[in-house]
Order: sequence, then structure tokens, then C-alpha cells
Amino acid sequence: MAFSPRFLEDIKNRISLVEIIGRTVRLIKKGREFHGLCPFHQEKTPSFTVNEDKAFFHCFGCGEHGSIFDFIMKTRNLSFPEAVEQLANEANIEIPTTTPEELRKQKRSRGIHEVMELATIYYENILKSPLGEKANQYLKQRGIIDKSVKEFRLGFAPNNRNQLRIELSKKGISDTLMIDAGLLIQPENAGSPPYDRFRGRIIFPIGDKRGKIIAFGGRALGDGEPKYLNSPETPIFTKGHNLYSLDRASNSISKADKIIVVEGYTDVISLYQAGYKNCVAPLGTALTESQVRLLWRWTSEPILCFDGDTAGQRAAGRAATNILPHLKPEKSLSFVLLPEGEDPDNLIKTQGVNAIRSLINVAEPLSEILWRISKKGYRLETPEDRAGFDKRLREMALLIEDKTVQKYYLNSFKQRLWEEFARSKKPGQYYKKAGISLPIKNSTTSGTIDVNLIQQAILIITLINYPMLVEKIGEQLAATEFNSSELDKLRQEVLKTLASNPTLNHEELKAYLNKNGFLNLLGTLSSGQFLNHTSFAQPGGNIDLVHRGWGQTFRLFQRNQLLDEIKKVEKELAENPTREIFDLLIALKETIIKKEDAEFI
Ligand code: UTP
Ligand code: MN
Repeated sequence: MAFSPRFLEDIKNRISLVEIIGRTVRLIKKGREFHGLCPFHQEKTPSFTVNEDKAFFHCFGCGEHGSIFDFIMKTRNLSFPEAVEQLANEANIEIPTTTPEELRKQKRSRGIHEVMELATIYYENILKSPLGEKANQYLKQRGIIDKSVKEFRLGFAPNNRNQLRIELSKKGISDTLMIDAGLLIQPENAGSPPYDRFRGRIIFPIGDKRGKIIAFGGRALGDGEPKYLNSPETPIFTKGHNLYSLDRASNSISKADKIIVVEGYTDVISLYQAGYKNCVAPLGTALTESQVRLLWRWTSEPILCFDGDTAGQRAAGRAATNILPHLKPEKSLSFVLLPEGEDPDNLIKTQGVNAIRSLINVAEPLSEILWRISKKGYRLETPEDRAGFDKRLREMALLIEDKTVQKYYLNSFKQRLWEEFARSKKPGQYYKKAGISLPIKNSTTSGTIDVNLIQQAILIITLINYPMLVEKIGEQLAATEFNSSELDKLRQEVLKTLASNPTLNHEELKAYLNKNGFLNLLGTLSSGQFLNHTSFAQPGGNIDLVHRGWGQTFRLFQRNQLLDEIKKVEKELAENPTREIFDLLIALKETIIKKEDAEFI
């Protein structure tokens, strides 16, 4: 709808910008302006200004600026007409209908809304009548309970060419209005009378975001074709701009909650019965960008839970790439991948609601899905393969218009590339591929050796041989723990001794330790079994080289500890798939990549 400039000015004059903004931002008067902390970016000192005279806000930090309408649109995530509507209500100004054409359109829309409501009641009543017997049986057999029938206002359209038309015309509704509402079909041949669109179908009323009925989906009883027949687009219904059950979902969620997007009407109802009121479905088309924007008004990250068939997975992939240009800080999507051949309705029936609950708990972030889409079907073995993959990822990230989000995507892809390549670089890959596994051989004894144990031994014997190193490495060593309890006791004893006697030389320190129960252990540590693995730990070397050697060993040791931890968490995640554990795993993996990145540079 177009608003006249005068009307918009009127709103601006009647409403105080400072008052509206002051509700969400603490403003302090400074000269002719008000200052506060910018609501559009994170800051500690105020760079956000509001000028009532000029009816304008501006942030010197992030550059956001605009009128009262812009402020409302941005902070409440509304479209321009919606912002105008809200402010007009606030100012108690009636929204003028400017042209006769618009007046007519509004009246027609109002008429269609009324007809849709009447039709909904009619279909509901038929379902309750003897005519609805078969439909009721069908619903029961599908596990849809009476409470849901009522809540979702399900109905039944009798298998008759004219029944709705006759009933509604008794209420004074014209054929034209019913045709406009999509309830009747006018045959090509204008001479023939119009007839009911929905016949012999279960009716799923589709509401707008306030719950007003704007369209219907009609499901055949059993195997009829098409399975679902939907309302056509009408003056009050655009498929791509609405979502099934959005009113219930948006009413049920609190701020931190998610909205789950499933493919089918029956999935929404099934999840509703399982306690998930925060579910919506698109209306027989792929999920559109405008539907995602709609969801972003209530939730920062809608969860897409599409069917586990090729079509569903392709639809999820398409949604993932289509939304890229529109991502904003804290506005994204996440994904639940259902097992092959399952939809949510089915999964709940066959495996219970816990199955879907655990999947929802570990919904995967958009970046993960994009990574997987880009990798699919490609090898990453040669430098050329990797360069190609790198390029695909970069091109994808560059589609993101928001510069901040784009930057983080580029970084995150880069990190993951390193991780991926580091993984495939692991020694032994070559043999593994050939199906041969090679145990790491110890030079003196047979069998495998514990690398981790050797690292701990080297870390401590080096310090014993060079006590003055404690100044440089004491803190790091004090902050770690060895998993060999014997070595850990030694670590603590050495640190304690050197803390109180910092001038001990290595012979004095050894003598002390030998006397205090570490004789055997020191003997083993000083033997070739451990020292053969290092060139720096023996006494009498250059202290700088010793320090460097110790540092390298320490980093490897930390890395191994992290890898162990990751293995543990991965196991835990398999047993208990919650978002928390998943996040912990990602954080651990990111730490390891960061360490590697730092060492590569
Ligand atoms: P599905 O075929 O997965 O249907 O299509 P469903 O909702 O699981 O239905 P049941 O459980 O078999 O009864 C998913 C959605 O795609 C649209 C509908 O919105 C449906 O809910 N669709 C499907 C159509 O619009 N027309 C069709 O013929 C089929
Ligand atoms: Mn389905």
C-alpha cells in the first residue's frame, strides 16, 4: 500500500522519536541531541545519537541511520507498511485509504476473509456430521486426535460439485466472491456454472500470522491424485509469503526458542501432538527467502527438518544456498537431517518422539551443510582438488552480502580446510588405503609405544637436567597435568622443590629426588629408552636449543591431549547427542585448528 507523504509526516509529528527509541535505548540529553549505546552494534561508549528536530537517528560507530519508521522496521523486524501501521496505531491516527481503487481492494479482501471463515466453519461442521464419517476414520487411522482436529480446525469437503456453493450462497455470498476466494472454479466456458474446488478432501485451513484463515490445503482420502490440492493465489493469499501454522508457532515460542520448519501439514500436526507447538510448513512450494525472513522475526535460527528423501535433501540444500545473500549477524538457519525415507510424522510413529528430539538437539549449522554440499562428490587428494574446493567455498561465502557474516564464513571455511587437509596428511594414510596397518616400533623393545608417555617423560627429565629452565617453562608445566600418575607426582615434586630452591643445579636436584623416593623412576627416565627420542634433553647442551626443543614437545603433548579429549567427547556425543556436547566438540576442534594455524604461519 502506498502512503501519502502527508500522512507519514503526520505520524512523525505526533510521535516523539526520543520517546519511542528511549523505550529500548537509554538516552542522555547532550545539547540539542540525545546520546546512547547503539542498538545496532556492540559498543561500550555511546556513539548513537537521536535528533528530535530533524526526526533522525544516526550512529557514528556503525553508520546506521534513518527515520522513526526505519528504527521500528529494524528493531522489530517489520516491513515498511507494518511499521507504519504500528506507529499509526500508537499515534491513534487512522490509516487513510487513499484511492477508490485501494478502497475497493480492501473491501474485497475483507469480503474474502469473511468467506474463508464461513467456509472453514462449513467444512468443520461437515467433518462432525455423518458425511464426515470416512474422513474421521481416516484421521483416526493416521493418529490425528480430536484435540488436534479442533486446534487446527480440520474439516471435510463433501464429494459433491456444488455443496459449498449452495451453502454459502444461502448466506448471501456471491459466486464472484467465492471465485475470488479460490473456493469455486469457473470453467473456461463462461456459460457453465462454477463448481466447488475442494471435493472429497480433508481440509487443512491455512492461517496468516494472526491465525485468520487465508487458504486451504485439501488432502485426498487415501491414494487420490493429486495428494494435496491447495487454494490458488488470491488477493489475501500468496504461497511464498505464508507458512502453515505460523500463528501457533509464533505464539508458542519465547525469545530464545526455535521454530522448526517441516515439509508437510501432517508433520506439523504430528509434532504438535508430540509437544512441539513451534512448527511450521511451507505451502506446497520450496521454502522461500521471504518465508525465512518472516521466521527471523521470531527466531534467529529456524531449524529446517526436511524429509530424508532425495527431494527433501535437495530442497534443504536449495534453501541453504538461497538464503546466503540474506544472512545477517544472528540470523541464520540450521538443519536436521532425517534418516533415509523418513518424514517427521513417520519417524515419530515408528521410533517415538525421542528420536526426533535428539535429532533436533544436534541440528547442524548452515555452515556445516554448505561445507558438505561443496564437498560432495569431490576428492581432496591433489593440490588441484583442494584448490578447487577452496574456490567453491570462497565463492559461496562471497555471496553473503553482510560483510561481517561474510568475513566469519571465509575464516571458518579456511579453518576447516586446514583441519581437513591436516587430517588427510596423516602419516600412514598410504598404507591404510592399501589395507596395511603399521604399528609404531620402539627402537629397543618390541610392540607399540605410548607417544604420550614419552612426551611427558621428556618434558620432566629436561627440566631436571636443566633446573634453570623453570623460570621460562615453570608456569606452563604447573598448568598441565600428566596422565601418568607416577610422572605427575614427579612433576609436582620438581616444581615444588625448585620453587623453594631456585638455585639448585641438576646434580643437586637429582640427589634430592633420589633421596625422596624417585630413584627408580629417575633411572628409567635417564636411560636410552626415553632420551633416544630427543636430541636436547641430555645435560650439557645449549640452553636456547633445549628451551626450543622443550617448547616443541610441549605443543605436541597438548595437541595429543586435545585429540584424546575430542575422542572422548565424540564418544559421549554418540551416546548422548545434545547441543551442548556438540558445541563442546566443535570448540575443541576449533582450538586444535587454531593451534595448527598458528604453527603453520
Ligand atoms: P508430502 O508428500 O510429504 O505430504 O508433501 P505429507 O504432508 O507428508 O502428507 P501425508 O503425510 O502423506 O498425508 C509435503 C507437502 O507438500 C505439499 C503439501 O503442502 C504437503 O504437506 N504437497 C504435496 C502439495 O501441495 N501437493 C501434493 O500433491 C503433494
Ligand atoms: Mn511427508
